[in-house]
Amino acid sequence: MAVRRILRSVSIRARRRLADLSPAEAARARKDQEALQARIPGLENFDEIAERVDSLFAPYHADYCARVGHPNHAASVELLSFMLVLAKLTQPKRIVDLGSGLTSYSLRRLSAEISDGGGPLVDALGGWDGPAPRITSVDDNEEWLEKTRGYLDEQGVTTDDLFYWPDFSASGVAGQFDLVLHDMGMMDTRARTLVEVVGLSRAGGVVVLDDMHKTDYRAGALKDMEAGGVPTLSAKAFTRDYLTRFAYVSFPG
Ligand SMILES: C[S@@+](CC[C@H](N)C(=O)[O-])C[C@H]1O[C@@H](n2cnc3c(N)ncnc32)[C@H](O)[C@@H]1O
Repeated sequence: MAVRRILRSVSIRARRRLADLSPAEAARARKDQEALQARIPGLENFDEIAERVDSLFAPYHADYCARVGHPNHAASVELLSFMLVLAKLTQPKRIVDLGSGLTSYSLRRLSAEISDGGGPLVDALGGWDGPAPRITSVDDNEEWLEKTRGYLDEQGVTTDDLFYWPDFSASGVAGQFDLVLHDMGMMDTRARTLVEVVGLSRAGGVVVLDDMHKTDYRAGALKDMEAGGVPTLSAKAFTRDYLTRFAYVSFPG
């Protein structure tokens, strides 16, 4: 049994590495990096800002992975930085993070620092001009939602606007968010909820789809986005992590 588990894990890792080397995906990542920078002014300075944000969150990520989540499930430091830089550059009024956890903390900390008139994260982002965004966090797993609540409370950020997905989905929230992260549940749930989650964004909003390194999920997601006429670009250049995970970004019209 143990041997079979080890062989399976080795095979998954080998397939991941192979997919990561795909020349077609690398070419798309390069082309889409420019397209993303054209769509989101300021993104050309990403590396400089992200370096500061990465350093700030690295100890939180390590602590979270050691005590609360698992590195395979927790958002990478790269994804945290990408979300925060996108927030800085697009100044959303409302953000929803689906798949609660470390992302919920990072976004709520941003909001808390802005409300307090500044702090280390706001400094790392190079300041903040507008009002603090309101953060909503959602999970399809009630147990993880409660773990997130405990972690947020422990870290001294707000624990309001935390929702169980079926309740949230039934509450008439389509089109209400400016920035959306889809990182919720196992991959079958992720794919099944994708179109509804993208629909949480207002027209002109930004949706980040994590875990697009998974080739089957990516193919289905891109097909869904194309069918819905939603432009979707690779953010591999900004989000690839040591586990070869990366995100795409959709722009609902
Ligand atoms: C990719 S994780 C979401 C991670 C989240 N955005 C974060 O930054 O920590 C996707 C789902 O896995 C579940 N989850 C989170 N941590 C987990 C863990 N350590 N083990 C099992 N499931 C986990 C949650 O239900 C979540 O919706």
